[in-house]
Amino acid sequence: MSFSLLRTTPALRAALRAGAARPVAALSGTSFARGQATLPDLPYDYNALEPYISAKIMELHHSKHHQTYVNGFNTALQAIAEAESKGDLTKAAAQAPLINFHGGGHVNHSLFWENLAPSSRDGGGEPSGALRSAIDEDFGSFDALRKEINAALTGIQGSGWAWLVKDKTTGTLSVVTRANQDPVTGNLAPLLGIDAWEHAYYLQYENRKAEYFDAIWNVLNWKTVAQRFEK
Ligand SMILES: [Fe+2]
Repeated sequence: MSFSLLRTTPALRAALRAGAARPVAALSGTSFARGQATLPDLPYDYNALEPYISAKIMELHHSKHHQTYVNGFNTALQAIAEAESKGDLTKAAAQAPLINFHGGGHVNHSLFWENLAPSSRDGGGEPSGALRSAIDEDFGSFDALRKEINAALTGIQGSGWAWLVKDKTTGTLSVVTRANQDPVTGNLAPLLGIDAWEHAYYLQYENRKAEYFDAIWNVLNWKTVAQRFEK
C-alpha cells in the first residue's frame, strides 16, 4: 500500500479534513509491507557515523524512536480502517493528529537516514553540479547555506526539523523549519532534513546542541540531496 492509496480512502480524507493534520508526503524510500509501514534498514552500520554521531545514538534513534513512529502510524491506520468499516467517520477523523505525528515521524526519519553517510564514503564535503549551482544562486554560497540551516536549527524552540526544500513550481531552494514531526508537504519537496530533537544528539552532546549542528555537516550525504533535487 502506498501513501497515495492510503490518502484516497474516504475515512482518511475525512480525518485530514477534520483536523490540524496535513497529508504525509509521498516518499519512495519509505517502507511498506502488506499495507503497513515498516522500519527501513540503515544503509550503514550504527557506528559508521562516529565520531560525529555515536553508535549508541544511532541505535536508539533508529531501532527505538523511529520504530515507535512506525508502530504509532500503523496503529492509527488500523484504527481508521476499523472506524471506516463501522461507518464511524468521527472516530476516523479523531486519528488525524496521530497520523500527522507518527506518519510524519516515519517519513522524516526515513528521509533523514538517507541524508547521512560515513565521512569515509559519501558523507561531508560540498555538493557539486546542478545542485551546487542552485545553492550558489539562491543562497550566495555553500557557506551561506550552511549558516542559514544552522541558524534555523538553533532557532527551533522545542522539538522539530530544519529542511532544505525545493519549490516544485519554480525550482527555487529555501530553508524551512517544521515543529515536532510535521512533514514537509504541498509544493515543497524535502531535499535535506536535519533532526533537531534532543533524542538526535543529547546522549553525546548533552546541552551543546550547536556542536551537533556543526558536526553533522561531516556526515551529510550530498549525493542523496542532489538526486532529490534533480527529480
Ligand atoms: Fe529523530
